[in-house]
Amino acid sequence: MKGIVYTGAGCELTDELGIRDPGPGEVLVRVVAAGVCHSDLSVIDGTIPWKAPSVLGHEGAGQVEAVGEGVRSVKPGDHVVLSTLASCGRCRACATGHPTWCPRSLGNVSSPFTYRGQEASNFAATSAFAERTVVSEVQAIRIDPEVPFESACLIGCAVMTGVGAVLNRARVGCGETAAVFGIGGVGLNVVQGLRIAGASRIIAVDTMSSKKEAAELFGATDFVDSSSLDPVAAIRDLCPHAPGRSSGALGPGGVRWAFDCVGHPGVLRSAIDVLDWGGMAVALGIPPRGAEVSVDVNHLAYVDRGVIGCRYGSSRPHHDIPLLVELYRRGDLLLDELVSITRPLDGFGEIVEAMHAGSLHRGVLVLGS
Ligand SMILES: NC(=O)c1ccc[n+]([C@@H]2O[C@H](COP(=O)([O-])OP(=O)(O)OC[C@H]3O[C@@H](n4cnc5c(N)ncnc54)[C@H](O)[C@@H]3O)[C@@H](O)[C@H]2O)c1
Ligand SMILES: [Zn+2]
Ligand SMILES: [Zn+2]
Repeated sequence: MKGIVYTGAGCELTDELGIRDPGPGEVLVRVVAAGVCHSDLSVIDGTIPWKAPSVLGHEGAGQVEAVGEGVRSVKPGDHVVLSTLASCGRCRACATGHPTWCPRSLGNVSSPFTYRGQEASNFAATSAFAERTVVSEVQAIRIDPEVPFESACLIGCAVMTGVGAVLNRARVGCGETAAVFGIGGVGLNVVQGLRIAGASRIIAVDTMSSKKEAAELFGATDFVDSSSLDPVAAIRDLCPHAPGRSSGALGPGGVRWAFDCVGHPGVLRSAIDVLDWGGMAVALGIPPRGAEVSVDVNHLAYVDRGVIGCRYGSSRPHHDIPLLVELYRRGDLLLDELVSITRPLDGFGEIVEAMHAGSLHRGVLVLGS
């Protein structure tokens, strides 16, 4: 079958993939659509170290084709969104409703594939850039078949990560203020999560001015082009401490929340520097291993500022994915509008180029119908 393989020295489109049958507790899914997330590109360029060969993609939706022994929650024919969390369901983290803290849910690489006859592993326990994939039962979440696969697949990462960061991790309150750095697939979903939460000020920041229109469509109240403006000064001007005073001792003024959806230490530092007293920076972007940020601890300790990380929207997929579908059906969550282009698997390179050029919200690979 066809798929996109990370070879260790880049990636290639192949039709020489094989896949095993689902084992006990596993599900074989025919992937219909898969979004391209920056994390896939980060494997290819080495920012996220990963085993090779492996099958890329982790933002997918499709139809269940077969189930292994003991699987009860889905059956062949069901439409499913794939979650990347192969959580165990039994440990303390899982039992307290935090599957993103489950030790089984990170780095538990398995190898359901073959590539040119040799064993090949999955990526993020998902591998959505293949015509078929095998996942744990807990990762296949049934959805209403009326949601188009091209839109539904984006719930599998960008939407869950962005909206979840706002609703689950930050728990942004109605009327609070926020800045969002990086208006790609994840950032746009932080923006719309903030709109859903009732944030009063949503300041979108990107180095590409082409992102302004989308930011506003998804709910941003302001846009800062950080290729021509210092984003910290611009945000402090937008949210001054007092009339005519952008700042005072230990920098009051600024925003309650700042989300880094880029993955560059300089951006996380800016996210910290725009915080009001009591503000919190949320790190979503994934920089290369070892990336560090320095900060004057006084600016945190005296005035209740903080920095937190957030993986996969701190989600509980069996609760959150049905909720996101419900928000979409009510018109509160924009999903179809996230899909800028759809391409077959051999259009992967075109999507990657368009991502780098800043002309996409999300590009989606369509593998079936
Ligand atoms: N924490 C998680 O669970 C999780 C999940 C998914 C993705 N990610 C990470 O989130 C990041 C974003 O992913 P994405 O798919 O949205 O990427 P994307 O390529 O769709 O978007 C990135 C955006 O950042 C902008 N940008 C680049 N440099 C910037 C800068 N210095 N200042 C402001 N904007 C800048 C780009 O113009 C682009 O609009 C990546 O690092 C990815 O690996 C993390
Ligand atoms: Zn992703
Ligand atoms: Zn667990």
